[in-house]
Amino acid sequence: MIIAIDGPAGAGKSTIAKIIAQKLGFLYIDTGAMYRALTLKVLDEGIDIENTSAIISLAHKTVINLINNPDGSLKVALDSKEVSFKIREPRITKYVSDVAKIKEVRQIMLKLQRDFGKRGNSILDGRDIGTVVFPDADKKFYLDAHLGERANRRHKELHGLGQKVTLCSVEADLHNRDTIDSTREVAPLKKADDAIYIDTTNLTIEQVVQKVLSYLK
Ligand code: DC
Repeated sequence: MIIAIDGPAGAGKSTIAKIIAQKLGFLYIDTGAMYRALTLKVLDEGIDIENTSAIISLAHKTVINLINNPDGSLKVALDSKEVSFKIREPRITKYVSDVAKIKEVRQIMLKLQRDFGKRGNSILDGRDIGTVVFPDADKKFYLDAHLGERANRRHKELHGLGQKVTLCSVEADLHNRDTIDSTREVAPLKKADDAIYIDTTNLTIEQVVQKVLSYLK
């Protein structure tokens, strides 16, 4: 069984997907983490973010893996090295949408994501899971929230990770990424016609989890 969760940055997708995966014994596949891992390699190799052909050839030589830990956390491996925390750094967040908009990069990730989905019952979160990666997913959700609330949540989360960022810069970053993600030519962020729309602005994590579970019954 495949469950797809899409939506803009900071809508709560990964938090909810992780909890649901734990509750149902599903694999959790964070597709954004895959784009982040490649972006980390692009930056560490000193490749210019505008150098599309160099990024594509790097993507072909890159091995990304996601490993579900028994405690529900996710280990992200880039060429066999753990990068679970590094991929959350602001420099990655700043450029990940530029890497993710490249058609050939998306083709590589698409194949990988479909292969990961074959490992067993899975819940995937991203931007194009219900529209492109798994258009026949058993259940699709689109989580959304007002920009200000998404910025608040992300700000808290980043502070928890020890990153000293201002609320203003977090909001500007979310807005910028939403714009790139939803206007790109290939697989833009979009609600699938058959996805269940949940506005999480005024809901607690537990309320969203219960809502999602009620549709899965
Ligand atoms: O979910 P996230 O913020 O970690 O995702 C990082 C970026 O990756 C996001 O800005 C857009 C891109 N992304 C994508 O284009 N398609 C996906 N399925 C998942 C993420």
